[in-house]
Amino acid sequence: MQYPGKLITFEGLDGCGKSTQLAREAKRLSQRGIPVTATHEPGGTKVGQHIREIVLHAASGAMTSFTELALMFAARAQHVEEVIVPALQSSRTVLCDRFTDSSVAYQGYGRGISLEVIQALEKSLCRGIRPDLTIFLDIDPEIGAQRTDARNRAASEKESRFEQEGLEFFERVRQGYRRIAEQEQKRVRIVDGRGSVAEVHAHISSLVDQFLEVSFPRSRNGV
Ligand code: TYD
Repeated sequence: MQYPGKLITFEGLDGCGKSTQLAREAKRLSQRGIPVTATHEPGGTKVGQHIREIVLHAASGAMTSFTELALMFAARAQHVEEVIVPALQSSRTVLCDRFTDSSVAYQGYGRGISLEVIQALEKSLCRGIRPDLTIFLDIDPEIGAQRTDARNRAASEKESRFEQEGLEFFERVRQGYRRIAEQEQKRVRIVDGRGSVAEVHAHISSLVDQFLEVSFPRSRNGV
């Protein structure tokens, strides 16, 4: 189904800095008069926020990979219905921190669930919504682990169930993202996450501008 709005997703390993970058990009686009909805997964709705607590809190303890996958898609189904589809119908540009590629990278490549299972869930539960553009912020898993450790210490962070995984897990997730990017070069753009926040943001905004120019020639972004 084609909607007048566009869905731009931000993906990458824990600690890659995508939430900071998404907030900057949302602000930049809004300042240019582009109607933006900034949202995130798992979460983005009340139901999704409850699911987020179950799936991310360390206190949830051991969880099967299928439970984890099902919870991610439960949150996503609610998010698509309640937030993403209405925003796209109203011609908004939706910036979403993680989407189905996270399930492919983390539950598929990371946990080893077959990609066919994930594709079947996507097909049944996401109302045909696929990102129009995906920014994959690529960092070394060791750098991501250092950043999330520092963040968790500073904030006595409870959402650390994934961050207890070893480096091999995050290496598999990173390879998964790279495979997705290789297979869908037009949609998924790799951004090197090693630069300063401003450098990385400059790269992201140029990709978003290019994308919007092609999607809406001489229209809302014609500043
Ligand atoms: P997020 O809130 O983006 O945390 P961070 O800023 O640290 O990246 O994501 C929370 C975690 O949820 C992250 O470890 C990735 C995981 N996740 C999945 O495993 N599958 C999914 O489908 C989604 C949406 C997230």
